[in-house]
Amino acid sequence: MTVATTHIGKATPRVDGRAKVTGAARYAADVNVPDLVYGCAVSSAIARGRIKRIDARDALAVDGVLEVFTHENRPRVAASASKYSDETAPEGSPFRPLHDDKILYSGQPVALVVAQEFEIARYAASLVRVEYERADHVTDLREVRDEAYAPKRKPAGPRGNADKAFAKAAVKFEGEYSSPIEHHNPMEMQASTAIWESDGKITVYDKTQGAQNSRNYIVNVFGLDEEDVRVLAPYVGGAFGNGLRPQYQVFLAVMAALALERSVRVVLTRQQMFTFGYRPGTIQTLALGADDEGLLEAIKHEAVAMTSRYEDYRENVVDWSGLLYKCANSKLGYKLAQLDLASPMPMRAPGGALGLYALECAIDELAHKAGVDPLEFRLRNYSDRDQNEDTTYGSKALRECYRQAAERFGWTGRKPQPRAMRDGKELVGWGMATGIWEAMHEEAGARAVLTADGKLEIASATADIGPGTYTMMTQVAADRLGLPMQDVTAVLGDSSLPTAPVEGGSFTAATVGTAVHAACELVRKKLLKLAKRMDSSPLAGAELEDVTFGEGKISRRDDPAQSVSIIEVMRDSGTNRIEEEATASRSKAAEKLSHYAHSAIFAEVKVDEELGVIRVTRVVNAVAAGRIINPTIARSQILGGVVWGIGMALHEETLTDHALGRLVNHNIAEYHVPVNADIHDIDVIFVEEEDGVVNPLGVKGVGEIGVVGTAAAIANAIWHATGKRVRDLPITLDKLLA
Ligand code: MOS
Repeated sequence: MTVATTHIGKATPRVDGRAKVTGAARYAADVNVPDLVYGCAVSSAIARGRIKRIDARDALAVDGVLEVFTHENRPRVAASASKYSDETAPEGSPFRPLHDDKILYSGQPVALVVAQEFEIARYAASLVRVEYERADHVTDLREVRDEAYAPKRKPAGPRGNADKAFAKAAVKFEGEYSSPIEHHNPMEMQASTAIWESDGKITVYDKTQGAQNSRNYIVNVFGLDEEDVRVLAPYVGGAFGNGLRPQYQVFLAVMAALALERSVRVVLTRQQMFTFGYRPGTIQTLALGADDEGLLEAIKHEAVAMTSRYEDYRENVVDWSGLLYKCANSKLGYKLAQLDLASPMPMRAPGGALGLYALECAIDELAHKAGVDPLEFRLRNYSDRDQNEDTTYGSKALRECYRQAAERFGWTGRKPQPRAMRDGKELVGWGMATGIWEAMHEEAGARAVLTADGKLEIASATADIGPGTYTMMTQVAADRLGLPMQDVTAVLGDSSLPTAPVEGGSFTAATVGTAVHAACELVRKKLLKLAKRMDSSPLAGAELEDVTFGEGKISRRDDPAQSVSIIEVMRDSGTNRIEEEATASRSKAAEKLSHYAHSAIFAEVKVDEELGVIRVTRVVNAVAAGRIINPTIARSQILGGVVWGIGMALHEETLTDHALGRLVNHNIAEYHVPVNADIHDIDVIFVEEEDGVVNPLGVKGVGEIGVVGTAAAIANAIWHATGKRVRDLPITLDKLLA
């Protein structure tokens, strides 16, 4: 099914752009209400043990301090851990703020100081004295890697006999890669403004990827009625996964608001943004074998990843290795090691960013051993089938990604040996890698309301965390009803709207897009029905497939001059509003196939031979992700993903002082993210990929694919430049010079 489009595919500017750049957009901590008071969390100074005593007297003595909440004096809330579970919670027992005296990790909130002003609260928080009883902690993955265990959900099962095939392979590579803890650093801090309404209801502006996920959490934890809680997240200043779970600031803000019967805001400091979820550190072992022709014969990939002591945080690190290349023998392993840290959380392309880093470096190493060009090696092992499931792809234009990116990059000019290319005193290296991300599709609802003035409003509860969801949903709806963009308004990020999942996993464009599409379809039907009833209607006898919606009119396909305007239809039938709601999920036909977005990334680095300074001077990333709703905003997603990949390869690393069990570089001065000076030329190509099955829009989502494989392409380029293979991320100059 191909849908005629006017707006989909167009590089339309963001509909919320003006609100964002003028400051009119209000974020969770921007919402002001009368008599608002401010909470500041006190963070634990030890990693494991218990609280012996909390002395809040000095804090309470500060002018303007209203209350200090601790596990000893907090109001009654749900005790059972299951009540704290949320739609994205992993297996285990979720963290319960101020639950008891136990300390599970350094930085855990142990008290909340509430005061008239934020500064007073923050100062008073520094005066809360906590006496601890320490217990031995472990925060070093290498110390406990041998105690790692397989979580409940296992990776894709083995096929063939990978051990035997590896032992016999003509060309082999075996190696260990590792990656550190990384933290999300969205511009907007985790924040909640809990507004106490006089009728006992509570409205919360929350920094979250899912307003309903937060609402349900509040309802369960505080034993409230669903009708009495409304959570709003109309704007979110980036999240990347750390806004998926209701975070402890929303617990603290609501708890204090209910106890004090007044509105309370709790905003975490940048340092406190490092006191919850992160990308887990991993140690990954790869063993790859190929024959003389460079055809893969064995793939073995095992990952050991961090989790907390209270939850089995699991992500898909290794399945990609069994899936991507044609290979008869594969064996995947995934284990978790418990540490005295907070549970990890999904972080942009969770699992995929890590697994493809290791796999795509190992493939590069094997290709070199086999004496085959890295791109040629991947083409020889290309698979048109999902190797794990032995299923067909709905679409897979990866071959075309390789071709277009290689050509744009000029790959044929590469000299195969390392240290063979140079620019003055810099060594030049060219590397490439593959990216892949699953095109998921969840169930979601949407509402469409058309009013007599010909204006349409569409609504769904999911948040727009930055990827342009408002704009894309406006485009989808405007297309379906043939209206100009300015006559369509999208409303998102409100728990009172039709049910939708969190925005995450790159599934929102497909998920909510399909629901909006379905709701608009119902409006079209109703409009046509009304139009056909008009006296001497030009559309008499027409079915939906016989008409088109465009320029505010419904026209006969076979004779476009025969038309009637939507406003006329509404006026003539005396209809003030048409309101339709639809719920949609993946079709049965789509469920039978495998759906993934793919990419090919080519990177150039220049390395100062004496100083080891690395610059990523050029990246070409060709992406096949189905139909692109909006090339401008989709390109921004890929640019952002590549920047994250550069950070992952060269900069990002949360350092732990294992003696204290504490994350020490918990600020953006010491936790390095790429800055403008680190970013050079990034070229994004969208490869055409028509997919009539994946969903009615043919879209796959692009929020995460941009980061997957990027770190590997850079690591491979660094090896090509220097002849030195650093397998431990990030690749810093000390490792390069060592
Ligand atoms: Mo994403 S890591 O599902 O926000």
